[in-house]
Amino acid sequence: MELNRRNFIRSASVLAALSLSEIEIISAKQKIKSDGKQISESDEAYWQNVRQLFPLAKDRAYLNNGTLGPSPYPVIEAVHKGMMDEDQDGNYGGWEAASAKLAKFVGAHDDEIALTHNVTEGINIGCWGLPLKRGDEVILTTHEHVGNAAPWLCRQKEDGIVIRTYTPAMTADETLNRISALINKNTKAIATPHIPCTQGQVLPIKEICRLAKEKGLYSVIDGAHGPGMLLLDLHDIGCDTYASCCHKWMLGPKGTGFLYVRKDFQDILEPHNVGGSSIEGNWDMNAFPVKSLPYANNAHRYYGGTQSSGLYRGVSASIDFIETIGMQNIHKRIKSLGKYTQDRLLEFGDKVELLTPTEERSRCGVNGFRVKGIEYTKFYSLCADNKIRIRSVAENGLNSLRVSTHIYNNKTEVDGLMDLIRKV
Ligand SMILES: Cc1ncc(COP(=O)(O)O)c(C=O)c1O
Repeated sequence: MELNRRNFIRSASVLAALSLSEIEIISAKQKIKSDGKQISESDEAYWQNVRQLFPLAKDRAYLNNGTLGPSPYPVIEAVHKGMMDEDQDGNYGGWEAASAKLAKFVGAHDDEIALTHNVTEGINIGCWGLPLKRGDEVILTTHEHVGNAAPWLCRQKEDGIVIRTYTPAMTADETLNRISALINKNTKAIATPHIPCTQGQVLPIKEICRLAKEKGLYSVIDGAHGPGMLLLDLHDIGCDTYASCCHKWMLGPKGTGFLYVRKDFQDILEPHNVGGSSIEGNWDMNAFPVKSLPYANNAHRYYGGTQSSGLYRGVSASIDFIETIGMQNIHKRIKSLGKYTQDRLLEFGDKVELLTPTEERSRCGVNGFRVKGIEYTKFYSLCADNKIRIRSVAENGLNSLRVSTHIYNNKTEVDGLMDLIRKV
């Protein structure tokens, strides 16, 4: 009884700090339950109810999920509750529960998931754990985010590996051709993103990983944008590792992520980032000689130390939120808003350059473009002045713009961006 009262007061106080009333949140949560049914991607009334559950400012169009996914109220509330548990009662641990849930969500087993804090951390674990020697070649794209470029560049500097690059093409087949053309007797790994941050092409990851397997190469994937946007089945994709986060398309708390390491690849990928969770069995610093570490027989060997159970409660809540709507429904809505954006951009003819493929399998929720006759930085600022948040893409000299659309967005917001393009 007392516990219920305490929980109620906790909930009420966190909700009071938010802009929707508790009643409104409960009612909106009810309205978005899909009960496993299909929701039409153009059922605007339904998606408006979804939007209501986000504390996003009403006078802004946030079209930048590719950088950071805003969390809905149920996630924020779960984080708050988790932190209160930790901070009121001193409870320690509990984050492992999210690992099992994450595994199921991405088509993996619990013993293949290491918790991280972001994509970059997972990429580093994959990069530094590969048994590579001087002269070994690794294939990346010319479109890398710094998070997938820096670790490999650092390994090039430290260990003398060689980085080879390809530019993602406008079709999946051509992308595969370009990767194939780079493979030679020194190639050891393909370290490509699933969806590059620059133009959002969905690369043919399953075929890329199959090619890697056929040629005896490691496939270590930067999966920053996969979970929450695509229907992900990592076992089906067949990669060796997949680094991702919960703070983009999964709409989870910021500073949460995971690294998938295929079970039978764990004997190959060396753990360097080790600590609390990494060890199973005894170790004793008094023994001489001190014994080597008995690593956990699972991917937990790749991370150690304290995590935030509050944040990982939020990760569990974000998976619940996604499943309330249905991942299939979310994917369809994201894809249809992405297509709407492409179609509107194409209407400008040669005045706007669409940089993302229109090929069905190679596009989803992110589109890259350039507006002719105006510097990309100027157009970006103009958007900001008009309360539209997109992203400028300075990476690798691409000098372009990027728009990302998620389930809290709608066509009106995309139209607002198009109006601005029309003006300039
Ligand atoms: C393709 C890609 N890789 C890696 C990252 C780095 O992600 P994080 O900041 O979570 O480490 C990002 C972030 O935007 C990204 O888009």
